[in-house]
Amino acid sequence: MKVTIKSPLDMHLHLRDKEMLKVVAPLSAKSFCAAIIMPNLVPPVTTIEDVVAYKKRILDAIGKENFEPLMTLFFKNSYTYEFLKKAKEHIVGIKLYPSGATTNSEGGVSSMDIEELKETFTAMSELNIPLLVHGETDGFVMDREAEFGSVYEQFATNFPKLKIIMEHITTKNSVDLLDKYDNLYATITVQHLFITLDDVAGGMLKPHLFCKPIAKRYEDREALLKVALSGHPKVMFGSDSAPHPIDKKECCGCAAGVFTAPIALQALAGLFEKNGKLENLQTFVSDNAQRIYGYSPTCKDIELTKEPFIVPSSYEDVVPMFADETLSWSITSIV
Ligand code: NCD
Ligand code: ZN
Repeated sequence: MKVTIKSPLDMHLHLRDKEMLKVVAPLSAKSFCAAIIMPNLVPPVTTIEDVVAYKKRILDAIGKENFEPLMTLFFKNSYTYEFLKKAKEHIVGIKLYPSGATTNSEGGVSSMDIEELKETFTAMSELNIPLLVHGETDGFVMDREAEFGSVYEQFATNFPKLKIIMEHITTKNSVDLLDKYDNLYATITVQHLFITLDDVAGGMLKPHLFCKPIAKRYEDREALLKVALSGHPKVMFGSDSAPHPIDKKECCGCAAGVFTAPIALQALAGLFEKNGKLENLQTFVSDNAQRIYGYSPTCKDIELTKEPFIVPSSYEDVVPMFADETLSWSITSIV
């Protein structure tokens, strides 16, 4: 059995910098046609010069691969209309992090008060720049995303022309918001379609499955699966592949992030096939994103075949999801 995905897109990706960038960027560049690159470097990507320089470092790291890094800025309240007008030609969106919510988000926003965000959100609406949001409060870890739901509702109603992407959603609550507000969209990761909190912490603790937002309940995973498998038009694949070196994962104080870039398409093909929905994989990993972002990628066809793929134990010093396991689908041709 085979399936060919035209121009697979990863709408939420962490490529890091320096040595890590050199390890992980070629892996994404091989399987994907383009990806939205997260700006949470240290320090974060906040100026046009930062965006341009980071994009160049990514392109240098991927060599000759046909892959387009779609750049983002790290949201700041201080961005003006004039600044954003200039930035627009270099970016596809702006990523908002609540301060301290996740890895390298310390410079994020400390209040979700509409009044404080109004000027920048209005400018983004007028310039048609999407807002990408890490939607978690600082509440109890299992409730953080659901609690953030009211913030999404406020953003969506007060800025009806602003395209808002709820990044890496993990709850039924977020899924339900999609059909309530025209301007809310979502990305979903690989791991949140496969695991629940039981897989992370129900037995021996699994640091390589620990990420933010943390995997939730069975009913949440069911709700995510339903919209992903059905090709819901407002849902896109965003791996949130977030590599950390092994000594930052297998230690006291494990960093949040699951590394999935090199195994994502193979794992998704298996999942969609198992559920009898292989015909919707193209919609989930490319078509919806093209329409939502108004983006037409330069084409790369990835052929997947139902043949065993033994996932490596590591890529340099980064351990992928499903390390040492055998997935039932492999990438057999890239054109
Ligand atoms: C991401 C990272 O490591 O940069 N970590 C994660 O657990 N997903 C940040 C993020 O997207 O939250
Ligand atoms: Zn992320």
